[in-house]
Amino acid sequence: MTLNLNDCEGCTACDLATTRRSVVVSRGNSSSRLMLIGEAPGAQEDAEGRPFVGRSGRALDSLLLEVGLDPDQDLYVCNAIKCRPPNNRRPKKGELRSCRPWLDQQLALVDPAVIVLTGATAVEAILGIKGGMTQLRGQWQSWEGRAVMPIFHPAYLLRNPSREEGAPIDLTRRDLAAVRQRLCEPWPDSGSQP
Ligand code: URA
Ligand code: SF4
Repeated sequence: MTLNLNDCEGCTACDLATTRRSVVVSRGNSSSRLMLIGEAPGAQEDAEGRPFVGRSGRALDSLLLEVGLDPDQDLYVCNAIKCRPPNNRRPKKGELRSCRPWLDQQLALVDPAVIVLTGATAVEAILGIKGGMTQLRGQWQSWEGRAVMPIFHPAYLLRNPSREEGAPIDLTRRDLAAVRQRLCEPWPDSGSQP
C-alpha cells in the first residue's frame, strides 16, 4: 500500500495521536536538494503545526542564515516523528517505527542530495548508529547515495550558548557551512546540478 503524505495529518498509528494537538509534517521547500531531520515536535511546534518554530528553531534558522542558507527556500525541514511526545520525552522505538513510513514518504518526495541530521535520535533513525554527537557531528556519512551530515541538536546549542571558537555553536556553523559548500558541488553521478 502506498501512503499519501496528505493523509499524515489524520494519522493514528501510535499513541501520540491521543495527546498531540497538531501533526507536525514539514516546513520549507520540498523541491530543494537539502533535507533536515530533527527529533520530534515540541510545545510550540505542536501548537503551530510547523517544525522548528520554537526557540530551537530560531537558533537553527539564525545559523542557517549565517552560512547563507535561506530557511524557507534552501531546505525542507521535518522530524523523525510527527507528533509531540508528552513532556518532550525522547521518542520511543515503537513510535519511531510507526512513524517511519511518513518519513520515507518525505524522503521520496524531496529526494534530497544532502541530509542534515540534528541530534542523536535522527542519526539513529537514519544511519542506525548510536553514539555521542560530539564524535559523530561534522563527519560526512553516506546513506542510500545521499550525503549525510550529523550536527548537534539546536536544543543542545541553547544549553551551550558560548560563541567562542570551538564551542558547539561554532562547530555547528562550520558543519552547516560544509553542507552549503556540498550543495554547490555538482551531483556525483550526473555531473551537473539539477
Ligand atoms: N526539536 C526538534 O527536534 N524538532 C522540532 O520541530 C522542534 C524542536
Ligand atoms: Fe502517526 Fe507519527 Fe503521529 Fe504516531 S507520531 S500518530 S505514527 S504521525
